[in-house]
Amino acid sequence: MVLLTKVALSASRLRPAYHISLISLRRASTMAPKLRDPTLLKQGLCYINGEWTAAKSGKTFQVHDPASGELIGSCAECDADDTQIAIQAAVDAFASFRKLTGRERSRLLRKWYDLMADNSEDIAKLITWENGKPLADAKGEAAYAASFFEWFSEEAPRTYGDVIPATVPTNRVWTVKEPVGVCGLITPWNFPAAMITRKIGPALAAGCTVVCKAPGETPYTALALAELSQRAGIPKGVVNIVTAHENTPAVGEALTSSPVVRKVSFTGSTGVGKLLMKQSSDTLKKLSFELGGNAPFIVFDDADIDAAVAGAIASKFRSSGQTCVCANRIYVQQGIYDEFVEKFADKVKGFKVGRPFDEGTTHGPLIHERAVSKVQAHIKDAQSKGGKVIVGGQLLPDLGSNFVQPTVIRDMTPDMALASEETFGPVAGLFPFQTEEEVVKLANQAEVGLAGYFFSRDLERVYRVAESLEVGMVGVNTGLISDTASPFGGVKHSGFGREGSMYGISEYQVIKTVTFGGMGKPLQS
Ligand code: SIN
Repeated sequence: MVLLTKVALSASRLRPAYHISLISLRRASTMAPKLRDPTLLKQGLCYINGEWTAAKSGKTFQVHDPASGELIGSCAECDADDTQIAIQAAVDAFASFRKLTGRERSRLLRKWYDLMADNSEDIAKLITWENGKPLADAKGEAAYAASFFEWFSEEAPRTYGDVIPATVPTNRVWTVKEPVGVCGLITPWNFPAAMITRKIGPALAAGCTVVCKAPGETPYTALALAELSQRAGIPKGVVNIVTAHENTPAVGEALTSSPVVRKVSFTGSTGVGKLLMKQSSDTLKKLSFELGGNAPFIVFDDADIDAAVAGAIASKFRSSGQTCVCANRIYVQQGIYDEFVEKFADKVKGFKVGRPFDEGTTHGPLIHERAVSKVQAHIKDAQSKGGKVIVGGQLLPDLGSNFVQPTVIRDMTPDMALASEETFGPVAGLFPFQTEEEVVKLANQAEVGLAGYFFSRDLERVYRVAESLEVGMVGVNTGLISDTASPFGGVKHSGFGREGSMYGISEYQVIKTVTFGGMGKPLQS
């Protein structure tokens, strides 16, 4: 098994060998944020069966601040054995947790939500520290993350079954929705809180228990959430958080091959998703996978150009391009191309790249050097094929090794790497196009199909294009589509299953059909 997160493998495998000694020589962080509640920061431990525990092997891995490169601390390097212990804890807890009423589970989730809201400043600081997104964005994520607990606390008491008119006159049929069982959740670093709550919320609402593998790059936010789960009174064993970096593949394999784990939910790369699916096949697990994207963003010549520029900026540069729904290919119709390019470039020139805790910073570092290399490769490739860099294009070594300038490239063509690969970074490639038919074809050429966006004021075109795009989510005249209430997920190689919304809970349920025979006899006199 190779990588387990969106762009990533463990940092030690991404960096050349000589870096490892440099890393261990780095000083502990002098840039540590001051937490209102310092007990939210858990060092060297994971959370299994309601207890804070070291890995059985005693091994730990180091976590570094992507902005300064300084050491944040060490976390438990869990392996397959630790994962088995967590799975067993979840199995034991499931027997009683599934019997709670929906209302009881709802109250637990609501308490966890309230604690997240109370501690949102600290959660945001942890997100910024380990992920590098600016504090304002991290505050947005903390609220977004908590909203999944609020939402699913409202869904938990309303998991209705059906009464079905039977074909056989003497049968009566009804269905009941049951929790699928123990769930393995594997989450990425780009939303250290929200991708965890988006999975744990519906799982607990449905009555499942979970073993969650926190990302090696951003484990501290996950551990803070575990601490709050304990304070919320979530029974022991219901939520288990294992942390690992180098052992990430072993933990993934333990979860996918376990006969008692009934469901795996994964957010990450398409390549890893395929591997996890193979590993899950022997035990025929229920799966939901939110995998890679390569979102087209189309601006037609009938669009409100200023609104389209704002939408494209929001979609492309959210979290410095490190979300799976970020615009990756921006197609602009020929007649408005130059005007759009100029207005778009002006906005990007106004960004302030800097330390993520600094006031006024709009964009922080990328997560690690491998992400930086991919950005550089896409810029170089575009330049070598005729693309013109009109903003940015350079690294920012004075800020740190993970900083790159937000970049705009014009005159993009379909043969460039950015057209077919997700950049996952702050590079906006602007492609000119002529006709609607041409651009829809280009948009749908991608193997993946997560999000797609377009701007148009022509009502017929709006319907036509929304129906034609081969994606799971379409943004029409908006660049932001993520909402707890909206189903989130993709088609094609972007995976399957939906998170959030009224559909999210069903990913953690199975429908049981109960047929009563010999019914409907006449009343006895
Ligand atoms: C993701 O990048 O995987 C999630 C983004 C979102 O929820 O908006």
